[in-house]
Amino acid sequence: MMHPSNYRLRLSLDILKILILPSTIFNLLNRYLFKLHLGLLLTLPTYILFVICWSISKSFITSSIRRNERERLGAKEIPCVRGAWPGNIDVLLKMLKAVKTSYILDVYLQLFEEYGCTTLNTRILWTDTIITMDQEHTKFVLSTGFEHFWRGTRQKERMERFFGQGIFNRDDEMWRMHRGNTRPFFARERISDFDIFERYTNRTLSIISSFQSSGNGGSQALDVQDLYSRFALDAASEFLFGKNLDTLSASLPIAGKTRMGPKGSATEDPWGSFTSAFEMAQQVIAARSRMGYFWPMFELLGDKNAANTSVVHRWLDPLVKSALDEKEKMASAGVCSPVAEKNFLQHLAESTDDPIIIRDQLLSLLLASRDTTACLLTYVTYFMAIYPDVAKRLRAEVLERCGPSGDITYEQLRSLRYMRAVLNETLRLFPPVPLNVRESRPGGCTLPPSDPSFGCQEQHDDLRPLHMPGSTVITYLPLLTQRNPALWGKDADAFDPDRWLEGERLSRFVNNPTMFTPFSAGPRICLGQNYAYNEASFFLVRLLQQFDTFTLAPEAQPEGSLPPLEWQGRKGRQAEEKIWPAAALTLFVKGGLWASISKS
Ligand code: HEM
Ligand SMILES: *[C@@H]1O[C@H](CO)[C@@H](O)[C@H](O)[C@H]1NC(C)=O
Ligand SMILES: *[C@@H]1O[C@H](CO)[C@@H](O)[C@H](O)[C@H]1NC(C)=O
Ligand SMILES: *[C@@H]1O[C@H](CO)[C@@H](O)[C@H](O)[C@H]1NC(C)=O
Repeated sequence: MMHPSNYRLRLSLDILKILILPSTIFNLLNRYLFKLHLGLLLTLPTYILFVICWSISKSFITSSIRRNERERLGAKEIPCVRGAWPGNIDVLLKMLKAVKTSYILDVYLQLFEEYGCTTLNTRILWTDTIITMDQEHTKFVLSTGFEHFWRGTRQKERMERFFGQGIFNRDDEMWRMHRGNTRPFFARERISDFDIFERYTNRTLSIISSFQSSGNGGSQALDVQDLYSRFALDAASEFLFGKNLDTLSASLPIAGKTRMGPKGSATEDPWGSFTSAFEMAQQVIAARSRMGYFWPMFELLGDKNAANTSVVHRWLDPLVKSALDEKEKMASAGVCSPVAEKNFLQHLAESTDDPIIIRDQLLSLLLASRDTTACLLTYVTYFMAIYPDVAKRLRAEVLERCGPSGDITYEQLRSLRYMRAVLNETLRLFPPVPLNVRESRPGGCTLPPSDPSFGCQEQHDDLRPLHMPGSTVITYLPLLTQRNPALWGKDADAFDPDRWLEGERLSRFVNNPTMFTPFSAGPRICLGQNYAYNEASFFLVRLLQQFDTFTLAPEAQPEGSLPPLEWQGRKGRQAEEKIWPAAALTLFVKGGLWASISKS
């Protein structure tokens, strides 16, 4: 198999197969068989005609192979989107436009509703491309049918430059190695040591306090999404490599004076360039995935992720180097420290001498922990601001269980039931990883029966399973699954933490836990789940001990980041959303979440 970094070669070979191969064959046939004397004028059209006929016959052959495969498996075809233009180019254009103008994933939801089913083949540019919001199919891809899927070649090509050999970009052996290596660092003893959370929470709250006192009269607005990203990154960098990237000390975005960065605010300093590169690289990956199969065509002159990735690498390479140097020094001095005292980076350095593997895995973990945790805290703050009663009840629970100050224990955090319900409800409506991609392994398989979302007659009468073709991309959409009224009830779009506390309502989830998969499921389930719950809860306890009033500051949002007016006439959450949720690998609030936080 071709290495994922050779995506240009891959595309050239494909083009060779599509254009050059038929032309050559035509040339040979003509020379020895047809012996046509095409004038100058006719040559090109004849060649083009032959290439088209060739492609059509090829697609007939492929469909007939698929048909045989389906018959062998006793399966039926996944319903296919029938666009108005050849190759469903109109559908592709609609999807590209939706990214800029529509509510998150709404374009997919509309397709599912139009076709009355939860799994669809969009067949963009004649290539099978499956999308699913079906709970049963998502469970199959991630868990019960894990062996039929992998991250796949296409996704690796898109992510190779940025993620390299890290855990998110590898399958099989290499993935197992990373997972085995990383797992011990999330054992309970390690993640219930709250010293690190305490230190960075303290600094973050000091910053919030300084904004509170700097406003004239009230408190001044700040971009909490940016602040939480710094908090999560500083805490994660200390947890992972014992060294703080100290992003909380760098200059903060200022209301009214801040450009919109790739995700949230842009700041102009070294830290700003790191964030911007880190976020831009994710945007590039997301854009490639929207362009589909042919994205390398747009990067023939250079890899769009090269420059941004090297900015990020310049931050990480010295850390890796010093860990490897330290290891050498220890070895030559004959010292050996026990695993329990090592941080993740030292542990990685122990397992390999390859600085690239170490750096790639560090980068993966930074991304895994920064953007997701910041997203969760950002959306909790959003909900506390638009539902003051939620903030009040949360605060009452915090004060009752943890008091106004003092140490916080693991047991205390566990006892915060309403807090857990708020976190889950936020993760349900705004899963930090709102959509994700897998590829079927060659050979294909069948998907189990659909969840009960659409009582489509066709689906009922024909009980055969759906055929998942081999080597085909499937995008699953937890955000839509977790807002599906067929699974969650009529009020699925409403933010209501009580659905996690009331026995009968909760039983929907208890009986069917894969309808809620913000941390994924199966063998690749998130390793940082408990770390994330602890970190978010710890932070919120301290935040609520000190503050009780959260207010959105729409006037401080950068231009173009408030939800478009036309959303208001539509159905679903978008009619009432006060912010613009957007995604590039992970979810964020467009332009940042500008809010003021104070104590009444
Ligand atoms: C609210 C916070 C978080 C959410 C919602 C979340 C969600 C996820 C999801 C959906 C995946 C699956 C990705 C995929 O298979 O494509 C994942 C994987 C992973 N997460 Fe998290 N995550 C969070 C926090 C963290 C933290 C704090 C860490 C580490 C410090 C972490 C480490 C990982 C790792 C290492 C994987 C890869 C597992 C594998 O491929 O075997 N996560 N996470
Ligand atoms: C941070 O820690 C110091 C020292 O323990 C304490 O005096 C201060 O009040 C804390 N600040 C915040 C914002 O919690
Ligand atoms: C990051 O990528 C974007 C888009 O390709 C580009 O405009 C920008 O200059 C890059 N940033 C750096 C630091 O190279
Ligand atoms: C929240 O979700 C987790 C799964 O991520 C589940 O184990 C837990 O029981 C839920 N908590 C509450 C309060 O429902």
